Amino acid sequence: MTTAWSPASWRQRPARQLPAYPDAAALEVAERQLAGSPPLIFAGEIAALRQRLAAVARGDAFLLQGGDCAESFDELSEATVRDTFRVILQMAVVLTYAAKCPVVKVGRIAGQFAKPRSSDTETRDGLALPSYRGDIINAPAFAEDARRPDPRRLLAAYGHSATTLNLLRALSHGGFADLHQVHRWTADFVKASPQGERFEELADRITDSLAFMEACGFDAALTPQLREVEFHTSHEALHLHYEQALVRRGENGRWYGGSAHMLWLGERTRDPGGAHVEFLRGLDNALGVKLGPTAQPDDVLRLLDVLDPDNEPGRMVLITRMGAGAAAERLPPLLRAVRDAGRAVVWCCDPMHGNTVTASNGFKTRDFTRILQEVREFFAVHAQEGTHAGGVHFEMTGQDVTECRGGAQALTDEGLAARYLTSCDPRLNGSQSLELAFLIAQMLRARRAPPA
Ligand code: PEP
Ligand code: CO
Repeated sequence: MTTAWSPASWRQRPARQLPAYPDAAALEVAERQLAGSPPLIFAGEIAALRQRLAAVARGDAFLLQGGDCAESFDELSEATVRDTFRVILQMAVVLTYAAKCPVVKVGRIAGQFAKPRSSDTETRDGLALPSYRGDIINAPAFAEDARRPDPRRLLAAYGHSATTLNLLRALSHGGFADLHQVHRWTADFVKASPQGERFEELADRITDSLAFMEACGFDAALTPQLREVEFHTSHEALHLHYEQALVRRGENGRWYGGSAHMLWLGERTRDPGGAHVEFLRGLDNALGVKLGPTAQPDDVLRLLDVLDPDNEPGRMVLITRMGAGAAAERLPPLLRAVRDAGRAVVWCCDPMHGNTVTASNGFKTRDFTRILQEVREFFAVHAQEGTHAGGVHFEMTGQDVTECRGGAQALTDEGLAARYLTSCDPRLNGSQSLELAFLIAQMLRARRAPPA
């Protein structure tokens, strides 16, 4: 039975993964300050993403979601945001060209600051300290001061999100994303690679087509879709004090999470009776739910009943993260249950979180081939079940990091140490991300023209 929802009703439920703040009064001060601040994302923008996702749920569009595992306060710069933005643009162009349908672009960005952890504490040389839970809570250095949860970090996270979003809005609407600029989107370190060269060929074709259309009298200046992009933000709705403080009520009386266009529930906080599900059910945002290999059909149906009682297309994105080799067994029962219940959802594949391993030299890493394999399996199982493989979800950056093994760069265990910069899970670098987009483009092309 459901009870009345309010932005604070989650506080009556068991809440996993939230920090224990030593100073409750300081937490309240931070929450009050956030509650008095403008939201970062507005109701109309949230509604617009839901419309785009409704098209994905119908099979008329594709979702590309990606960004850092955890953003870091120290790493925020014009370059890091721009590089991630432009590689997502490049991937989206590659996928749009292949799928011949709109690609909905959603960053894991401008708010991805809280991380779930498997243990509350970390012990080194006999000293146990609180685990690092993301920059919105504490700092990564292994020292008592750094690891103490500090509520002032909620305000810093809001500030960093606003700064990032300001830059994203400028990049989306200020000329950088103009399709006439497509040649400028390749990072220097990717240019000389096979996928960089392939992208240049595609960019040439796009430039030629635009020139041809303009010669025929088509006026690109009157077509905002060519000069700007719609770029949306998302993060895991883990830190409920922060999320609640940014809830706003729209003129239509509905409630919006003002921290991002889309919010998702992690694999560890999707208990239907828990605080995180209770909080999200009352918001009007697009909602994601991560589904790992233990998810059962009944769990998924129950979550949909609570989070999307009216079965609204564009509301729910089910993000499966089964691990390479597991999809053929794990996915069909979920797809069938959701389809047979008449549910309109977006199915999205996160091939990152089921494929994390430890390298011989201790680095947490992921293999490019395993990531690709899980995406292939996702497409194959959806084709077999007659459901729509709606999108992909990556941990990635535009920068030249060395965190995932393999790809055309053939990164090895030894190579990981060179630029291993992530503050949490290993990300695809700009070159690996583009390479993966070309490989997924092949799958999208094959889906459009199945063999006779
Ligand atoms: C994540 O997306 O960074 C994450 C922690 O994922 P999951 O909840 O699927 O483990
Ligand atoms: Co992660």
